[in-house]
Amino acid sequence: MKKVKIKNKLFKIYIDNNRIKTRVSQVANEIEKEYIDKNPVFLIVLTGSIFFATDLLKDMDFDCNIQMISAKSYGNEMESSGKVKIDHLPVDLYGRNVVIIEDIVDTGITITRIIQVLNKQNPKSIKVATLLNKSANRVIKADADFIGFDIPDKFVVGYGLDYAEYGRNLKDIYILDENQ
Ligand code: IMP
Ligand code: MG
Repeated sequence: MKKVKIKNKLFKIYIDNNRIKTRVSQVANEIEKEYIDKNPVFLIVLTGSIFFATDLLKDMDFDCNIQMISAKSYGNEMESSGKVKIDHLPVDLYGRNVVIIEDIVDTGITITRIIQVLNKQNPKSIKVATLLNKSANRVIKADADFIGFDIPDKFVVGYGLDYAEYGRNLKDIYILDENQ
């Protein structure tokens, strides 16, 4: 089995790039059906969702805008700090149908904070597309509308997701190896 070492931790392959791409195309189709005539604004949450967002958006072919927002919640650890720093706020969301593109919804704190901040601009609607969903770890009620994969409460890296800012560049998704 393919394994990688990132800093001092061992990770094993969990979802390979072919499976990711297949699933991302299916999610793109779901979103397209709902938003084809809604001129949505896709909001890429930096940095973790960059690979997901580009693959997803290239699979859709209708009028839309793309903006970005930055949200940081993890320090250098594997647990959420509970505090979210939001930067690089989007503009002109009034009356728009917003789709937030996230890498992972874990405790739910980050996505809840982002939605609170965006709501100040009075968009018409806000929905969430996330590549990964760790529903077992929620500390706050938060639902994603479009989900790539439901995963257990274990730490993952790759395809945009990091461990202490490393591993984002991997094209597959890896999960923490229990037998370190
Ligand atoms: P939440 O606020 O706990 O929902 O965490 C959301 C953010 O934490 C995500 O956007 C990721 O940046 C990060 N995160 C949560 N779980 C993982 C993981 O397993 N690997 C890498 N990053 C994660
Ligand atoms: Mg992160």
